[in-house]
Amino acid sequence: MKRVPLAILRGDEIVGEIVIKHIEAHKCATMGISLKNAAYKDQGIGTQAERLAIQYVFRDMDIPTLYADTVQTNTRSRHVLEKVGFFFIREDRDFRYYRIDRVQDIQRRSAAGTDEQA
Ligand SMILES: CC(C)(COP(=O)(O)OP(=O)(O)OC[C@H]1O[C@@H](n2cnc3c(N)ncnc32)[C@H](O)[C@@H]1OP(=O)(O)O)[C@@H](O)C(=O)NCCC(=O)NCCS
Repeated sequence: MKRVPLAILRGDEIVGEIVIKHIEAHKCATMGISLKNAAYKDQGIGTQAERLAIQYVFRDMDIPTLYADTVQTNTRSRHVLEKVGFFFIREDRDFRYYRIDRVQDIQRRSAAGTDEQA
């Protein structure tokens, strides 16, 4: 299994896609996300979709580490990744690279009293 595409739905409408790629079973994977077009941005959809995808990867796919990256100039994407719990690991001229780990995510959510299921 190399990649898992996940549709982002608002009601019955597909408004974007998350792809779980570079999958190494029970070890790690990388998340990519895009909304269908700019009209869907800044409505909380990406934040909610990323939170759901992270929990899907951790729980259903049993993958304990998830990576993501974004171009340096994409400050919206950077903000959302950090908001949902990814932490910055490194950068190069064009990209910033992020990571989130299941163990730390459980601890963080527990400490914050926000052990939401989604
Ligand atoms: C990046 C993306 C997934 C985010 O999804 P979204 O639904 O637009 O994001 P949300 O509405 O959940 O949250 C947007 C947040 O960014 C903030 N924001 C908006 N514009 C911003 C900017 N230019 N710089 C920094 N933050 C910004 C908003 O205030 C909001 O933060 P808040 O909830 O703390 O107030 C989406 O915009 C997208 O698909 N973009 C195009 C593809 C892409 O960039 N993919 C990322 C990988 S390269």
